[in-house]
Amino acid sequence: MNKITLDLSNALSSSIGNENGITENELNDFEEKIRNVLIRVREERAQGKLAFMDLPCASTKEIEDTAEKVLQNEFEDFIVFGIGGSSLGTRGLKEALIHPEWNLLPHKKRNGYPRVFILENIDPYSFSAVLETIDIKKSIFNVVSKSGKTAETISQFLIVKDLLEKAAGNDWKKHIVITTDSLSGPLRKIAREEKISALSVPQGVGGRFSVLSSVGLFPAAMMGIDIKRLLKGAVGMDALCSGEKLDENIASALCAFYFITYKKGKQITVLMPYSDRLLGFGLWFRQLWAESLGKRKNSRESEGPTPVVALGATDQHSQLQLYLQGPDDKSITFIELEDYESEIEIPRSFEHNDFSYLPGNRLEDLIRAELSATRTVLTTNGRANATIRLSRISPDTVGGIIYLYEVVTTLMGYLLDINPFDQPAVEEGKKITREILEGKESPESKEKLAIECVLG
Ligand code: PA5
Repeated sequence: MNKITLDLSNALSSSIGNENGITENELNDFEEKIRNVLIRVREERAQGKLAFMDLPCASTKEIEDTAEKVLQNEFEDFIVFGIGGSSLGTRGLKEALIHPEWNLLPHKKRNGYPRVFILENIDPYSFSAVLETIDIKKSIFNVVSKSGKTAETISQFLIVKDLLEKAAGNDWKKHIVITTDSLSGPLRKIAREEKISALSVPQGVGGRFSVLSSVGLFPAAMMGIDIKRLLKGAVGMDALCSGEKLDENIASALCAFYFITYKKGKQITVLMPYSDRLLGFGLWFRQLWAESLGKRKNSRESEGPTPVVALGATDQHSQLQLYLQGPDDKSITFIELEDYESEIEIPRSFEHNDFSYLPGNRLEDLIRAELSATRTVLTTNGRANATIRLSRISPDTVGGIIYLYEVVTTLMGYLLDINPFDQPAVEEGKKITREILEGKESPESKEKLAIECVLG
């Protein structure tokens, strides 16, 4: 059976002392505060205001039917255009749930599914590189934008539409699936007018909370990921996120760790999975946390713990020195795996004393020992840390942890008294980009201090 366990032992004052550790009184105060937040969540959910919470139980029929239909055309490459909440979740699912070298596998080893490219940025160099790599006539593009008007995604779409028209004439439409708002926005209009296959982002579901909708599920189905199990994991998690008591509600308990340590000055939230497969999930979390919680409350006050993603064991050789001896302004959450699904053993090759502790162990034993050592040294240095343990990476544990963080982010937002669902600063940036491209002068100040170095 697949499981997710939250271990907060190393965050308690009994482990790391009163200054950094969470005391019983603080937990009692938190339980008092979160009670009202949980009531608010329950009421808003019943009124349909927290639509992301309904996604795990929604029907996947339209998504599966569309994927099945598209897959029948035996396209060789599947390319996703989207940015922010319209791509990061998909990237997280891809990295966690399909082979890390998917595009290098022969067709048969991919069970007939296409190669996958997720194009988020509009760096022309990487965009051209993907266009050079694929055969556009054998490719299917998923254009994902809830608003239907984000400059990056629409530009990608316009470029490819033009190329497809040149290559396939009126059949260009058969190479596109649009995912956008169910009712409004320019992409919805285009889909309707041009009769392009289109999926809906359910009403009331914002970008960064949309991975468990058509936004993430259609690409997942195109990669052969079991989307029903993904949602089943989220449903299972949902059942564990509504209890009143902290020990009956994993979302409240994790939120207690983040909220209390934030109030104790841990302004930086480090998420450190010990698995390459969860790096994409980490980047998804980084956006969820930053865009949901980084808010101005009024003219003098702002809120927002800064999310940082580190990768174990790699970043032990990059970040750990700072986490241990730098400013004591971080909470650290490890994600630990019980099963890496690999049995690679380190062989004995040299009779060398310096290596003698390695042979006979598996790589999995080494990465686990490194996590354990890092956790121990942080704890003995009084640094607050928590561990989320996954029995393994599977559609249900990934669905579960995604849903868990969506709920924790909502609870955090409500506790901090901010709206976790808007993003006024992002909208402002989008507006200024448009104005610049429409020919208005750039609002940036003219160069006042710039140093130019001619190098060749
Ligand atoms: O979470 C969000 O709302 C944003 O990050 C959006 O997902 C991002 O700006 C892309 O917007 P859209 O899906 O409208 O293209």
